Amino acid sequence: MSEVGSRAALPASLVLVGAGKMGGALLEGWLADGLPGAHAAVIDPNPAPAMVALCERHGVALNPAEPGEPEALVLAVKPQGLDAAAAAVAALAGPGTLVVSVLAGKTIANLKDRLPRARAVVRAMPNLPASIRRGATGAAASLETSEAQRRTAHALLSGVGLVEWLDSEDLIDAVTAVSGSGPAYVFLLAEALAAAGVAAGLPAEVADRLARQTVAGAGELLGQSAEEPGTLRQNVTSPGGTTAAALGVLMAGDGLAPLMRDAVAAAKARAEELAG
Ligand SMILES: NC(=O)c1ccc[n+]([C@@H]2O[C@H](COP(=O)([O-])OP(=O)(O)OC[C@H]3O[C@@H](n4cnc5c(N)ncnc54)[C@H](OP(=O)(O)O)[C@@H]3O)[C@@H](O)[C@H]2O)c1
Repeated sequence: MSEVGSRAALPASLVLVGAGKMGGALLEGWLADGLPGAHAAVIDPNPAPAMVALCERHGVALNPAEPGEPEALVLAVKPQGLDAAAAAVAALAGPGTLVVSVLAGKTIANLKDRLPRARAVVRAMPNLPASIRRGATGAAASLETSEAQRRTAHALLSGVGLVEWLDSEDLIDAVTAVSGSGPAYVFLLAEALAAAGVAAGLPAEVADRLARQTVAGAGELLGQSAEEPGTLRQNVTSPGGTTAAALGVLMAGDGLAPLMRDAVAAAKARAEELAG
């Protein structure tokens, strides 16, 4: 299930715990998707001025005294803040509440330990482009999560981009290694392309601008196209031409593919070490 969730599945009542970069992006996405502000409450002891303004503009309750048990409770504090945040909101997560967590490294079992009455728990791993609603999120649900609750979680997470459901929570570490950390690999590609441009004789600023726009433009094209990445690549590669010469290096036996496999394996191993 990777299609964008429907507005109809957004919950009738929602509490967001932690309205920083990711929580704020989620809230903006829900409001843009049509969630009435009065259906949402935010708990954050020290919200940024922009978040206060967003809540005021949409009538979202900010740090209400008694928010009541919501249909959905979304956790978006830093992983090291889970204990404190969960202690404060554990009473809100009842047996019928859908809990959605975007906390890196915190398992469904970790979350249930801290929210002992919760049954339906979705663990999600979004990535940085969620801030522009172009994120890629992997999600796994506890066995007690109903189909309707999955649809609600899907609607909530798809407020910031693509959602891929995983059959097993164990796959979250692989998601972390591919799409969670992936934006950094793409930024590195832009850096390396610019540096190679300088080595090929371009002024540094020109190389930077050309590399940046090439990565951004190619990414945009990939996002808009129905073609596979390999087909798009072949479409711009004339036999014997300049692109083919470069790809001969990048696609050699010791080229990009094995390097990327090693990089993703290293990230996955580190995610496994950090989980807990
Ligand atoms: N940013 C990303 O690209 C990204 C990607 C994947 C996953 N995530 C996950 O998203 C989560 C949030 O990351 P972030 O980058 O959005 O961090 P962030 O900007 O620091 O946001 C966390 C927010 O939670 C607030 N907070 C702290 N303690 C709280 C409490 N007890 N109750 C309620 N709110 C509390 C923080 O306030 P203070 O600033 O005052 O402490 C802050 O506003 C993390 O667990 C991270 O693993 C983020």
